[in-house]
Amino acid sequence: MAALILFGGGGDLAMRMLLPSLYFLEHDGLLPEGLKIIGAARSEESADDYIAKVHEAVKARAEADKVWNEASWSRMKARLDYLAVDATSPESLKPLKDKVGDGEVTSFLAVSPSLYARIVTAMKAAGLAEKNCRIVLEKPVGRDLKSFLEIDDAVAHAFSENQVFRIDHYLGKETVQNLIALRFGNTIFEPLWNNLSIDHVQITIGETVGVGDRWPYYDEYGALRDMLQNHMLQLLCLVAMEPPSDLDPDSVRNEKVKVLRSLRPVTVDEVERVTVRGQYVAGVSEGKPAKGYDEERGQPSDTETFVAVRADIDNWRWAGVPFFMRTGKRLPEKRTEIVIQFKPVPHSIFDRDDRGEVQANRMIIELQPEEDISLTVMNKRPGLDQRMQLQPIKMSLSWGVPNSGDGKSAAPPRRRIAYERLLLDAMAGDSTLFVRRDEAEQAWKWVDEVSEAWAESGLKPDDYVAGTWGPDSADMLMARTGRDWNTTDV
Ligand code: BG6
Repeated sequence: MAALILFGGGGDLAMRMLLPSLYFLEHDGLLPEGLKIIGAARSEESADDYIAKVHEAVKARAEADKVWNEASWSRMKARLDYLAVDATSPESLKPLKDKVGDGEVTSFLAVSPSLYARIVTAMKAAGLAEKNCRIVLEKPVGRDLKSFLEIDDAVAHAFSENQVFRIDHYLGKETVQNLIALRFGNTIFEPLWNNLSIDHVQITIGETVGVGDRWPYYDEYGALRDMLQNHMLQLLCLVAMEPPSDLDPDSVRNEKVKVLRSLRPVTVDEVERVTVRGQYVAGVSEGKPAKGYDEERGQPSDTETFVAVRADIDNWRWAGVPFFMRTGKRLPEKRTEIVIQFKPVPHSIFDRDDRGEVQANRMIIELQPEEDISLTVMNKRPGLDQRMQLQPIKMSLSWGVPNSGDGKSAAPPRRRIAYERLLLDAMAGDSTLFVRRDEAEQAWKWVDEVSEAWAESGLKPDDYVAGTWGPDSADMLMARTGRDWNTTDV
């Protein structure tokens, strides 16, 4: 019998993401035959009570996605079980080990990372780290390189690297994988994918939510560690990496590590020119009054809720091409996009007026709110004007839109939760979309340099009003280089 153990099985991540993902996989007939799903947490409750809670959480999510089905739920229910455990104690884990027997076990740690080291040590002692066991670690693993290595060393003591699956849920997003297909499944983009044709790259992850009552976690981390160290640097790697020789987990991750190693360190002399920290103050978010971060926290704090960085990748392909990244809470839109800004034509043969200017091509890889890849190209404005007028048009390169492939319009498939893919891959032992130890190490190294430069220079967050695109200094970061953030779809 194979088993999936969810440590922290009653917590927010499990109820909001993991269990609904498992339901969707069940619904689509994708869960391994005979798989048992065991929630494990501290709370002393019966399996029936736990299953009732799972039912409620899963049903709400599945109904919202219009795929609730009683028969699928019955199948999932038959797999579910619950055990109250103290995961840091080998004794307490024994009944769990007895339950799963000698079958394959994938354990997902959806608990506070401060417990990871003690839990994996107890798992090893309880026989839950045998050769046929795997461990999935939710981020953040550590808050700097030193604490990452401390936790990861404890993990490495219990599990070998091919048993460890460090999650970055952005890698499970469909469009992120589509980026790999776009770059390496086509010949037309790759010759342009370098400093000869690309002016710069922008990566934005905007969120409308505030930190709210997550502040005890967030205040320790801030936007730099919560988002940039992982999600943003992973996106940067996928845009910037060299073509791997195949899709083997190590081939892909070798290329990503090379990018991280090529990131130019941010020095204390440069830090104010290439980074921005921001923190939201009271404003209006999605039409409602929103508190400032300090008010949510109850006292002033220097934690950044917004970060923007100009990163330079010191290698042949990207020399001279800045990668601008920004992310923040309480921004005007929930929007994640990668903008590949191509260079302008070297000389325009068209009249320059307010309607006819030649705009440089721009590829937008949108992950949220929609999943879409588009390319803007210049086009003649139809009509009999004496002077030719140009206009940019947006070509969609995504699935499910008219004129893709055979010219027919296909309904886009349901938008999956990123964890669906990642749970399946972890249970199958495929680590391509997971973060290898040396990747996390390099990412922490670079992020540590930024935070040390902040500490040394005394750079504090600039205020921005909730519901705006961050502090003015984020626009200045771009403006200093003669560029600006993408504000439009076209
Ligand atoms: C998490 C961060 O990793 O990603 C959160 O801890 C953030 O602060 C979330 O809100 C964003 O994920 P998504 O998939 O909604 O963009």
